[in-house]
Amino acid sequence: MDLLRTKSVETSISDTDDPGYQLKRKLTALDLTVFGIGVIIGAGIFTLTGKAASQFAGPGVVFSFVLAAVCCGLAALCYAEFASTIPVSGSAYTFSYAALGELIAWIIGWDLVLELMLGASVVAQGWSTYAVTFLDEIGLGWPDAIGPADTEHFFWGHVNVLALLLVLLLTALIAIGIKESLRVNLVLVGVKLFIVLFVIVAGLFYIHGANYDPFIPPRSDPVDTGGLAQPLVQWAFGLQPQTYGVLGIVSGASVVFFAYIGFDVVATTAEEAKNPQRDLPRGIIASLTICTVLYVAVALVVTGMVRYDKIDTEAALASAFKDVGRDGFATLIAAGAVAGLTTVVMTLMIGATRVLFAMSRDALLPPGFGHTNSRTGTPVMITLTIGGLVALVAGFTPIGKLEEMVNIGTLSAFALVSAAVPVLRRTRPDLERSFRVPLSPVLPILAALVCVYLMANLSLETWLRFLIWMALGFGLYFGYGYRKSRLATEAGAATVSP
Ligand code: ALA
Repeated sequence: MDLLRTKSVETSISDTDDPGYQLKRKLTALDLTVFGIGVIIGAGIFTLTGKAASQFAGPGVVFSFVLAAVCCGLAALCYAEFASTIPVSGSAYTFSYAALGELIAWIIGWDLVLELMLGASVVAQGWSTYAVTFLDEIGLGWPDAIGPADTEHFFWGHVNVLALLLVLLLTALIAIGIKESLRVNLVLVGVKLFIVLFVIVAGLFYIHGANYDPFIPPRSDPVDTGGLAQPLVQWAFGLQPQTYGVLGIVSGASVVFFAYIGFDVVATTAEEAKNPQRDLPRGIIASLTICTVLYVAVALVVTGMVRYDKIDTEAALASAFKDVGRDGFATLIAAGAVAGLTTVVMTLMIGATRVLFAMSRDALLPPGFGHTNSRTGTPVMITLTIGGLVALVAGFTPIGKLEEMVNIGTLSAFALVSAAVPVLRRTRPDLERSFRVPLSPVLPILAALVCVYLMANLSLETWLRFLIWMALGFGLYFGYGYRKSRLATEAGAATVSP
């Protein structure tokens, strides 16, 4: 069994010339940055800021945001180097096909599908919660029986109709064509940026210096996060993850990590970029930097407005304004969150379609699945499949169950991509790299280690679900892809011919 077979970089790039699987090259660096911001700013900043501040870090959550940004920044540099070297659709999946071989590529692709599909479902559910809040605020309301469900309801007896409708509408937009979707995206990103800036500027007037004292609250009782790392860390250092203190900042960072997820999706549009080698690194790094600055500012303002132990853990941004008697501002923020989360769901779904597209072009999935429609230029069958699955998960599973699954899928892909940078430099030093990670191999290895550490902090339940997902993936690979992939077919043909 050849588990290390690798597709050459040249084949990966020339694959994009096949007219049956071609995407249109329309996106500029600005489009890519907007696309990135569209997917990064979402449920994370609107909901997790409060949770991380009140449970882990106090106003020190500002440092948690910086720390999570540094982790993502390291991974972003690795993504940027790959995207500038192998500008083809499918993101980390395609890079690793050339650098680490088919099996690892399949694993990364499978992880990414998990990240993107479940991410879209989770954010669609968050969207429905904000939509209901907004409808309540303006006095309309929405029946509980068809609204967001709590953990009591699982797969039967309850449909989250709002989330379901949102996903179906977005699926139709994506199937019509990415440029059209991006136009909608542009408007919605504008609204979202306005709301975030509004929170920062309006909030400045309600900051009380006393709320920053202490900025890093002293350590209190240890928190049992249920992470796999906890027993190990305890055994090795006699420590436990902490509430507050410096370790609380680290715990906060692992929570707000979710808020940065999405910059990697920019790399999935490589084949639709006009000048991918130059513009992809720009788009990835610009969107991550802009979001970091905004997140830090929002965290500073919110923890200045409300004392950290009084912050609302569900809807911190809107609640902070309610607490200071500005209900109208809270309504505006809920409306902005609805617009903001819409773009996140859409962009995550587009990312998922592009990963499956690349996998089916390599015949790791049935090739007919990935054909692009001649009129829209989009892979319609894949789009409808992804849309259907996301709608099912968003509509029928309870809120708050799947977030950690998104994190574990993302972190595992980040770790493998980071590790692949020095590997490809060694195996293909000749390739033109318009962007290079500084200090390789130190930075890529550091990036991979940080990701693995964060993964180890996730709960046992998440690990079990993740292992089941991976087992499914292996079943599919060895049952279909290993025998039918283009590499397998080409290898077979080469053996038969004289
Ligand atoms: N970063 C995205 C969000 O915060 C996934 O919703």
